This record gives sequence, structure tokens and C-alpha cells, in this order.
Amino acid sequence: MRELYKDLQPEILINREQLAARVAELGAQITKDYHGKELVLVGILKGAVIFLADLLREIDLPLTLDFVAISSYGSATKSSGVVRIMKDLDHDIVDKHVLVVEDIIDTGLTMSFLKNNLLSRGAASIRVCSLLDKPERRLVRLGSDYTGFTVPDAFVVGYGLDYGQRYRNLPEIGVLKSEIYAN
Ligand code: IMP
Ligand code: MG
Repeated sequence: MRELYKDLQPEILINREQLAARVAELGAQITKDYHGKELVLVGILKGAVIFLADLLREIDLPLTLDFVAISSYGSATKSSGVVRIMKDLDHDIVDKHVLVVEDIIDTGLTMSFLKNNLLSRGAASIRVCSLLDKPERRLVRLGSDYTGFTVPDAFVVGYGLDYGQRYRNLPEIGVLKSEIYAN
């Protein structure tokens, strides 16, 4: 990982132990909240896959798994709010309790689009579980029902989060040096 770490600011924002501990807490809370319900976890490709893979194993309930891939037009570091579904759910969600698992909520535009879209398909409930939240940059009123960590307004990578599709394989979350995305 040495090649990847040289693009990060030296202080790691969230390390492996912190990630594992928080993911376990979220899993326990979700297990409690969805007791007796039919839960469908919907992961947003690709950023949420590492988080989802860990979270899923901390949820002690029968559940099913599905994925959507969405692309938001905009630059690599800013979303535009114009969202397109590149890969839709494989199964219908009518009367199901859906928990959308996302890597980070930034402006909130992506999640707000997706939530409305899933609601219109007749789900019994839609909640959001986001590993990270950057509330300072929010443009729409949107909360995450389950949040791992609140982060400052900086571009973060690792544990699934990318910049230009890279850095997803970092085992912890760091802040990208600004010169990496300046040019
Ligand atoms: P939003 O529509 O602005 O909330 O954007 C959410 C999406 O932007 C996330 O799913 C990420 O893919 C991406 N994103 C926003 N901030 C970051 C970041 O700091 N690092 C990596 N991806 C980010
Ligand atoms: Mg994303």
C-alpha cells in the first residue's frame, strides 16, 4: 500500500480498529431495529462494497442483498445532482424494508434522488445507512438514519471510497493531498 499512502495526508482519519468497532455498533443497532422485519440491504456500487461486506456480517437477522449502480454527472470531486441508474435492482422491493448502504453523503443529491426513486416502487420503508457524512456540504435536506462517522469537508479515500476509481483498496480512511486533485 506504500504507493497509495504517499498520496494521503500523513494522519489517518479513521483507522482499521475504529472502522471495525463502529461497524459492529451499527450492525447491532440495525439488528435491534429490524427485528421481525424482512430486511433488504441495497448497496450502492462501487463505493459501499467494503463497508457493506463488513456490516452485513454484523447483522444478526435473515436478510437479502441487492445492488444499484448510479452515476452522477459532475467532476471527480463534486456531484451535480443529475443522477443516472447504470445498474438497477435485481429484485422488486414491494412491501420490503429497504436499508440503503452508502459510502458517504456529501451534498445529499445522490441519496435524495435514490430514496425518492426507491420509495416510488412501493417499499414498506426506506432508510439510509452511510459510513460517512459530510454535513457541511449538504445542499438538500437529508439525514442518514445510521451514520458511521461525521467527517470534515475534505476529500477522503479508502475502505471503498475512491478518487478517479483508485484508493478503494486502502484498509483505512485517509484524506487525499489536495495537490492530487488540483491538476
Ligand atoms: P452527493 O450526491 O454529493 O451526496 O455525493 C455522494 C457521492 O459522491 C458519494 O457516493 C461518493 O461517491 C462521492 N463522494 C463525495 N465526497 C466524497 C469523498 O470525500 N471521497 C470520495 N467520494 C466522495
Ligand atoms: Mg458513491
